[in-house]
Amino acid sequence: MLWDSGQRRCRLSIRVAFLLTLASFGLSGPVFAQASGSNSHAAALTHSPLTDPAIEKRVDALMKQMTLEEKVGQLAQYSSGAPTGPSAGNADYPSMIGRGEVGSLFNLDSVRAANQYQHIAVEKSRLHIPLLFGLDVIHGFRTTFPVPLALASTWDPSIVEKAARIAAQESSAAGVRWVFSPMVDVARDPRWGRIVEGAGEDPYLGSVMARAYVRGYQGKSLRNKESVAACVKHFVGYGAAEAGRDYNTAEISEHTLREVYFPPFYAALSEGSVSLMSSFNTLNGLPATANPFTLTQILRKEWEFPGLVVSDWTSVGELVPHGIALDGAMAARKAITAGVDMDMVSDSYHQHLADLVKSGKVSQPRLDEAVRNVLRVKFALGLFEDPFTDESREVHGALPKERVEHARLAAERSFVLLKNSGAGSRPILPLAGDPGTIAVIGPLADDANNMLGPWSGRGRPEDAVTLKTALEQRVGAGKIRYAKGAEFQTASDAEIQKAVEAAQGADVVVLALGEEAAAQSGEAASRAYLNLPGRQEELLEKVTATGKPVVLLLFSGRPLTLPWAFEHVPTIVAAWFPGIQAGPALVRVLFGDVAPSGKLVVSWPRTIGQIPIYYNALNTGRPAGDTDLTHPPTNSPEKFVSRYIDEQNSPLFPFGYGLSYSSLEYSQTRVDSSKLSAVGMNETLRAVASDKSAGATASAMVKNTGNRAVDEVVQVYVRLTGTSMEEPVRKLVGFKRISLAPGESQTVSFPLGADAFSLWDMENHLRVEASHVQVWISPDSSRGLPVALEIVE
Ligand code: BGC
Repeated sequence: MLWDSGQRRCRLSIRVAFLLTLASFGLSGPVFAQASGSNSHAAALTHSPLTDPAIEKRVDALMKQMTLEEKVGQLAQYSSGAPTGPSAGNADYPSMIGRGEVGSLFNLDSVRAANQYQHIAVEKSRLHIPLLFGLDVIHGFRTTFPVPLALASTWDPSIVEKAARIAAQESSAAGVRWVFSPMVDVARDPRWGRIVEGAGEDPYLGSVMARAYVRGYQGKSLRNKESVAACVKHFVGYGAAEAGRDYNTAEISEHTLREVYFPPFYAALSEGSVSLMSSFNTLNGLPATANPFTLTQILRKEWEFPGLVVSDWTSVGELVPHGIALDGAMAARKAITAGVDMDMVSDSYHQHLADLVKSGKVSQPRLDEAVRNVLRVKFALGLFEDPFTDESREVHGALPKERVEHARLAAERSFVLLKNSGAGSRPILPLAGDPGTIAVIGPLADDANNMLGPWSGRGRPEDAVTLKTALEQRVGAGKIRYAKGAEFQTASDAEIQKAVEAAQGADVVVLALGEEAAAQSGEAASRAYLNLPGRQEELLEKVTATGKPVVLLLFSGRPLTLPWAFEHVPTIVAAWFPGIQAGPALVRVLFGDVAPSGKLVVSWPRTIGQIPIYYNALNTGRPAGDTDLTHPPTNSPEKFVSRYIDEQNSPLFPFGYGLSYSSLEYSQTRVDSSKLSAVGMNETLRAVASDKSAGATASAMVKNTGNRAVDEVVQVYVRLTGTSMEEPVRKLVGFKRISLAPGESQTVSFPLGADAFSLWDMENHLRVEASHVQVWISPDSSRGLPVALEIVE
């Protein structure tokens, strides 16, 4: 299903070099104990900026000159500046760098600091090896774009690619040539705070977005001074943390890893991402940072990844609390043997690796390969030729217009209109040209800092335009009645009362409620309640009780469960954390300059009891509601079926859902061929280039039946039955964002071939099987009538 045929070609040279390396490690015994034993799972990666014989030669030459200590130095990474995890350490970095004991630093706060450290590395250390500077650039560096969950909600990879390119330009101007992004963890649990950092619950959409980030960061050439190395993370299963609690254990079968969790990683790596980060969580009984199955068997042996693997923050040292290491030395041995090249912050490699190699507990070839993986990236970035950053490149004044405009466009496309009913037959949105007096209420209405969202790089609140400011610019300050109404966690009766009065005196009310960006969303921000924090729900109820038309804008890093609001508030928009252009983008959408066009990338639960909830689930033998799943499932009154006795199974809003300001009609889906050959498609799976001719083309007519121009994200889903392994009730295999003028119709076509119809079989081979297929072209994951086709042997 999710491997591009174009990536399947095996480059002999990489393969041979890789196999020689494995042979020299003696990797045949216990390291692969978790492997399934079968071979030829996924095709090896074919495109990497690292597979360059000229680089290899230079790595060889340098390796010959390096002492054991200098090699270990390349594998040590430290944080200098504001820490992004516990125990950053207070090492004397200048002396360490001078002795060649540091390979990488991150979290530096200025380009000047980077250049200063770099001078020490290239002038004082014996071999003059440059440092590699990293940073968590997650949705922009200074130009802060919407959070990644929102960027994915645009369903527009070109938006994401350009945002990543701007982030690369700004990061590199600050001396940062390595970004710890994209985060591609598939997440099906909104309790997990880090769901905000990824592309949601779907592996196909996640793969498309992963590729877009990598293209943007790494550009056409890594040597370009405006390009940065990507780091796809967190490998793997971090998004499946039990109970949505951060850093918690995950249990995922190899089949599900291959079907759901691996694909976005493979996509990022096949797009050329030169590095990968291992995750904190335990996966199937073994911490991911010491897991040879994922880090060596899959990543190195099956995919033949030639790049750099860095641990997550102190995750090497954390093997001790996990209980699989008794001390730092044992932790270092387990991590490097499993496949972690660089130790982020824990200092375990720095302290123990040289002794471990001397005593033979870690093999010299494994150490050498780890060092080579680091050096390859440094050479590919051109750091040896040009280690410093021209300090005049950084923008200190106002941000360039083009970047600001892209931030606005990205935000506009990311908003998801969840509900838009209203007074009488007219929906509240879009607002009329002159809506009268507007009450703007809520802790997020005028909070620039929180518009940036969690992980906001070097984003500055002073660059962000709030909703209140943008509304004032639009209609004039005299027409705005602002009341904060509540803090995130608290509110006084007087504050709430003031907000109610502001609403009473207005013609329309816009409420900006939600989470506090970094405290209630992102890392270490798992929530057991997905309501509006503090007294915000009370504020909402009291303001709604005024009877004024209310628009609720939800700012959050996840879906929130708000049964009262969804029943009583007429208009609700998921605004996520929109970035620096929050206000202008929201105002343009509120007034209908542009129609909302974002669609959900996570199922929106009715209640926490439904979590984990995701559209691409397996059926049960006793499904509730329609067994043929041609309609949104409705729960059956029968007892012995798979359902809750006190709630529906379906989410409140399905994956792919989002309203617009117009009405759209989809025709019946058609396919140009009702019988396909599995043999033909399996050939294309193995072929060099993607050949869609062995498949079918699905199409449907989409018509804008309303009177406003809109963008629509048209989605195509399949279900396979009669297969060797059970397949999801629907899975996304393609999508297209189209623009439709009022009254306009477009036929939207999707070529569907082996990529769409393949699955991982019992032996963990990817193949197309004889099966029955249903195909839907639909506006979301729960609507539409499918068309059938058959795949024969
Ligand atoms: C996070 C990573 C991040 C790293 C460095 C960790 O706590 O899990 O995503 O890249 O810190 O800041």
